[in-house]
Amino acid sequence: MTATPDSPRSHYPVAIVGAGALGLAFAARLAATGPVAMIARNAARAAELARGVQIGGQLRRLDVFAPNALPTADWAVLLVKTGDTDAAARLASALRPHGLLSLQNGLIEAELREACPALAAGQGVTTEGAYRDATGIHPSGAGETLLPPGFEDLAALFVRAGFVARVDPDIARARLAKLLVNLAINPLAALFRVPNGALLEPPHRVLLDTLVREALPVLRANGLDLDEGAALSRVHGVARATAANRASMLQDVLANRRTEIDAITGALLGMAETGGFEVPTHRAVHTLVRAVEHAATGTPSDRG
Ligand SMILES: NC(=O)c1ccc[n+]([C@@H]2O[C@H](COP(=O)([O-])OP(=O)(O)OC[C@H]3O[C@@H](n4cnc5c(N)ncnc54)[C@H](OP(=O)(O)O)[C@@H]3O)[C@@H](O)[C@H]2O)c1
Repeated sequence: MTATPDSPRSHYPVAIVGAGALGLAFAARLAATGPVAMIARNAARAAELARGVQIGGQLRRLDVFAPNALPTADWAVLLVKTGDTDAAARLASALRPHGLLSLQNGLIEAELREACPALAAGQGVTTEGAYRDATGIHPSGAGETLLPPGFEDLAALFVRAGFVARVDPDIARARLAKLLVNLAINPLAALFRVPNGALLEPPHRVLLDTLVREALPVLRANGLDLDEGAALSRVHGVARATAANRASMLQDVLANRRTEIDAITGALLGMAETGGFEVPTHRAVHTLVRAVEHAATGTPSDRG
């Protein structure tokens, strides 16, 4: 086991799978009010993290575990990139939790349930943010975290740690509202390599609005009760509020990493196909982002 010498346990109220930007930001805050287990991808990463990691400008030593020596946990929180969902969800199952909560972007609940059918698994939504660079983890201000019904006890743990968090009885709608923003802003920011605010200006604005207008009938058919004006103003509002930010998909492209395009635009394409909707601009954007990924990482551009 790789853990801090003074506080390893065999059982935790909560464990976080995915020791990246958001996972470590959540773990650091949760650790202030109770034990939290951080599950790393492999032993080398666990050993590195156990030596300490800068989170919000402070050196933090968390209880870190490698996959070959896991504790058990009441609740598991999944915070890996969506391309790693399957492997990480199986790892989370080994913690034998009451429930597995994903706070990933995109729509991945079906994949989660397929990966661990014996678990109560659900996908919530968070507007908490964090990024990582060579100096450590930088939490970027407080947001709101919504959990699916059944995760009340975990929501209470979050609240105790100072998060704004609650169970949302209509979590499917919350996921679609976040998907709308992500599928408009993320791919365009990645393709044109611009900060979010630039998408509100020519020449990108027309594409941004086209993506919103094309997606809306599909999302509405799946339960998102927004009219076009409200949908556009929601996306514009996020682009304006995060004008200087680099969207996560842009960060992935710049770092030559696989993006979350399949869980975001790919999820829309799947719903459009099922419902018989035409979404040609999203289809083109999906192909283009995959082509960029292929050039950078060698990931097959025709996967799945
Ligand atoms: N960052 C944000 O502000 C933010 C906000 C809202 C939602 N989200 C969503 O949250 C998710 C995580 O984002 P992030 O920015 O935190 O990503 P990230 O910094 O890339 O972190 C992901 C972490 O998952 C680890 N991982 C990969 N496969 C694993 C496995 N099989 N088992 C255990 N750990 C594994 C990675 O390990 P290595 O370090 O070894 O590669 C990495 O540390 C994404 O879906 C993202 O869209 C992020």
